[in-house]
Amino acid sequence: MAHARILVIDDEKLIRWSLQKNLERSGYIVEIAESGEEGLVIFEEFDPDAVIIDNKLPGANGIEIMSEIHNRDPRVIMLFMTAFGTIELAVEAMKRGAYDYVNKPFVYDEIKQLLEKAFHLRGLDSEVARLKDYVHRQYDTDNVIAESQHMKDILELIDKIARSAAPTVLLTGESGVGKDLLARLLHQRCPRRNNPFITINCASLPETLLESELFGHEKGSFTDAKSMKRGQFELAANGTIYLDEIGEISLGTQVNLLQVIENRLFKRVGGIKDLRIDSLVIAATNIDLAAAVASGRFRRDLFYRLNLIPIEIPPLRERRSDIVPIALFFMRRFNEDFHRQFKGISEDAKTALTRYNWPGNIRELRNVIERIVILEDGQTINVENLPVELIEQGGFSGDHKSNAVAQLRLEIPESGLSMEAVEHELVVKALEKAGNNQTKAAVLLSITRDSLRYKMKKFKLL
Ligand SMILES: Nc1ncnc2c1ncn2[C@@H]1O[C@H](COP(=O)(O)OP(=O)(O)OP(=O)(O)O)[C@@H](O)[C@H]1O
Ligand SMILES: [Mg+2]
Repeated sequence: MAHARILVIDDEKLIRWSLQKNLERSGYIVEIAESGEEGLVIFEEFDPDAVIIDNKLPGANGIEIMSEIHNRDPRVIMLFMTAFGTIELAVEAMKRGAYDYVNKPFVYDEIKQLLEKAFHLRGLDSEVARLKDYVHRQYDTDNVIAESQHMKDILELIDKIARSAAPTVLLTGESGVGKDLLARLLHQRCPRRNNPFITINCASLPETLLESELFGHEKGSFTDAKSMKRGQFELAANGTIYLDEIGEISLGTQVNLLQVIENRLFKRVGGIKDLRIDSLVIAATNIDLAAAVASGRFRRDLFYRLNLIPIEIPPLRERRSDIVPIALFFMRRFNEDFHRQFKGISEDAKTALTRYNWPGNIRELRNVIERIVILEDGQTINVENLPVELIEQGGFSGDHKSNAVAQLRLEIPESGLSMEAVEHELVVKALEKAGNNQTKAAVLLSITRDSLRYKMKKFKLL
């Protein structure tokens, strides 16, 4: 890491001097101190990334100073220098947070390599932290975009529910409309925000496991129950339980869940003691629960109970004014994540984005933008960057292209030409432009993929 800041603490002038020269030559920014006390003062102002510290210092020993530095900022890389043969000291130094140690006398290369390795590892640590942050931002409740009146009303409703003592909420809507995100937002806005938010995907567990997951079990209550286990209702203590895909739970579990929600009491599986629930229960589903009730797959009583406060999140195609703002939001977000510089979306591309029906809703929109930001160069998102479905549904493969033909300067030579040869040429050019992607090439020529393949065969391109 060039330009890293390094503090050298040693009372031997020659060592300070030679380390400073060598480190600076390697591109580091260096400060030096003669004593532990001076070292700590400089440490505060200089804010180094690494400290190289000698064990024998006037007034205090290096190990003590190291502990102090480690307390002030545990991320600082510390290299410890000891006289040859005092391995116990070196071990002690490592225990107090030193990254590594060198024996005196040392050659500069040893120090240089240790520093490089340490900075490299620290870089990896921060990469891990960045990835965690990235996952966290999958559900960025600080940035819920709501441009349409529909979404504004929903956010207002969520605020109202957050201030109320509502025990249950039902979130419905197609896949990818933002149910998880809004469940988290509701939790964030409640007074219970500092308590756990626990997600349970009801579809991913078989019936017996789901019940023990939700309510816990007593030791020996079933074959695998080797010890007592607390369920999520217990662990959520005053927080929120988010029951995703509630439409998938078995009729048996539905009975139990209804009782728990009505009485606010439950027992661990195999247990006798009543435990109280104090959590907000948010259930979500992308199936039509009323239809499931009609066909006998979902209990009517539980449906009514959950449906006390329903929030129906409309699909993106029913709130098209949200599309462009959300696309721009994701563009900026992925610019940051992938160090790209997209500045905007062209008018045509905005039209195509707005016209498309988004069966996968916001998740699909997010993926489209993420892919473009990662793969395409340039500063503007253009129609050509969009996936084929969007270009087609946006109407950018028809009229738009007839105009383009007018702009081609087609001249027929006196000797005439072969229409077949022109067609051949067009097919080759389109394939080139589409990077040999047949679907895209077909869109470029406004023909179906089948007819493109037919022509390719005819011209022996297949
Ligand atoms: N209004 C919004 N503003 C910004 N991002 C949003 C918005 N709505 C949803 N998202 C994002 O879109 C993605 C999909 O949303 P989410 O996972 O909440 O959908 P879902 O309804 O739970 O889908 P599924 O039914 O498939 O579980 C998430 O990354 C979410 O953060
Ligand atoms: Mg979800």
